[in-house]
Amino acid sequence: MLRGSKVGLRARHEDDIPVLQAELHSDVVTSSRADGRPWRPITPGSKDSPFVVDDKEQGHVPFSVVELDGGTLIGTASLWGIDNHHRGAHIGMGLVPSARGKGYSTDVVAVLCHYGFVVRGMQRLQIETLSDNTAMLRAAERNGFVREGVLRSSSWVMGEFLDEVLLGLLAQEWKPDAKV
Ligand SMILES: CC(C)(COP(=O)(O)OP(=O)(O)OC[C@H]1O[C@@H](n2cnc3c(N)ncnc32)[C@H](O)[C@@H]1OP(=O)(O)O)[C@@H](O)C(=O)NCCC(=O)NCCS
Repeated sequence: MLRGSKVGLRARHEDDIPVLQAELHSDVVTSSRADGRPWRPITPGSKDSPFVVDDKEQGHVPFSVVELDGGTLIGTASLWGIDNHHRGAHIGMGLVPSARGKGYSTDVVAVLCHYGFVVRGMQRLQIETLSDNTAMLRAAERNGFVREGVLRSSSWVMGEFLDEVLLGLLAQEWKPDAKV
């Protein structure tokens, strides 16, 4: 397990899947805002659930997020789009509603940065998030991510095109303990 100050990132367990489906995926609006893919219902037990992990898929490393104090499952986090030639990857995450608003997201981003830069030797990490996702933007910027641009009308969300913000952080800019 990878440890931050409040959260741990561990492998996906079989019994995490129904919880994540109920707590994250069943919220159509939040799911549509956070996931580039169109929302559709998932059959319980489906092997095609977005929360089922394929350990052979090299470019995508999904984690389950747990509270260090007690081990409760509180969400998902991933390093995806891993490019070992250009040494870049993207970060994504989602917390269950009861775990939001407690400052966990900054810690999750910090642990993903440690995994990306230290464990995987990435040179650049990137986050794309909707321009009104204030909590995600703040969690990224507190870890040193810089706003590099706005992808205008890049995301179709519940009947409208919304802007996304592109944020990047380079290995040499990363300060592991700075939460500014
Ligand atoms: C995005 C998400 C992970 C953020 O987690 P969270 O628990 O809601 O956010 P946190 O409580 O950790 O807050 C992060 C920071 O944003 C700030 N923040 C949150 N909402 C804010 C608002 N409306 N205005 C200003 N600041 C805000 C917090 O104060 C905190 O900053 P601080 O640590 O300096 O005080 C969570 O809301 C989530 O899972 N959302 C659904 C999925 C999603 O959007 N994923 C991201 C896709 S890229």
